[in-house]
Amino acid sequence: KIPLLVDVDCGVDDAQALMMALAAPEVEVLGITCCFGNTTIDHVCKNVLRVLQVCNRMEIPVFRGASNSLLGEISAQYSHFGGDGLGDAEDPSSPGLEYLQEEDAVHALIRIINQYEGKINLVALGPLTNLALAVKIDPSLPKKLNKLCIMGGNLEGRGNRSVCAEFNFCLDPEAAYIVTNEFTCPMFIATLEFTRENCLTAEYFKNWVNQDTEKARFMKKITAKLPPRPTFVSYDSYAMAAVIEENIITEYMQCSVSVELHGRYARGMLVLDTDDKWKKEHKAFLMKKCNLDRFKERLWNALL
Ligand code: BDR
Ligand code: CA
Repeated sequence: KIPLLVDVDCGVDDAQALMMALAAPEVEVLGITCCFGNTTIDHVCKNVLRVLQVCNRMEIPVFRGASNSLLGEISAQYSHFGGDGLGDAEDPSSPGLEYLQEEDAVHALIRIINQYEGKINLVALGPLTNLALAVKIDPSLPKKLNKLCIMGGNLEGRGNRSVCAEFNFCLDPEAAYIVTNEFTCPMFIATLEFTRENCLTAEYFKNWVNQDTEKARFMKKITAKLPPRPTFVSYDSYAMAAVIEENIITEYMQCSVSVELHGRYARGMLVLDTDDKWKKEHKAFLMKKCNLDRFKERLWNALL
């Protein structure tokens, strides 16, 4: 089985990506680490537990991580997915924070990556704060990872959080800088543009959530109050799919990447060295094309 660690800021699309992993028979999710992002760290933790409950997988350990960016810049979280990150569709029977592990997310990442050295895959679906802290404590982590798959950053300087920056990178630019520069393992990135170019239809979404299963009812409930959109972009699910089934991504662009930390408009923007001016050895794989039929099937199975 593919051993997997997932770092999330569990909003609706993180939940979709998690459910995709939990439905994949070839994957073993060893742990889920939580980071602030779509909502507060407490909500993120509760959301992950809620997803695990719906999927009947409460045995998977969940760890609480960073509650703010490295510079502590985020005073109020902002979400595409309601105040609580899961569409403000509360459920009183959801598990409480007492189900969290005592160990924190950063130390759990370090421990588990060391334990599964060479084999372990990490999928990062939120701000990269936990990963940046972990690599500062244990700089040997990157060489111990089989691969790191990130949802974040943008190709053309058109953001969804700020004018120029994508949400996950924008929420903690320093962490994104540290991770893109120091994780010299094979690194795969699903950028904002890539996820949008491979969006699904509103009709797919409707049929997906209207299946007669408990997981579909859950997905329908947590998306009911969200504003209707002409297309369906499950951002985080692309990064997850790329780890579960390698061939789902059919074309990559390879280049060195970094993150803008200053600037009046561009702080948090992904920077691409497409002409190889830096002559850096480490090149990231930016996803370019996807086998959409396979992706749709993986996502479909998430709610069965
Ligand atoms: C990213 O931002 C978050 O809101 C989503 O969960 C996704 O990880 C998309 O830019
Ligand atoms: Ca996310």
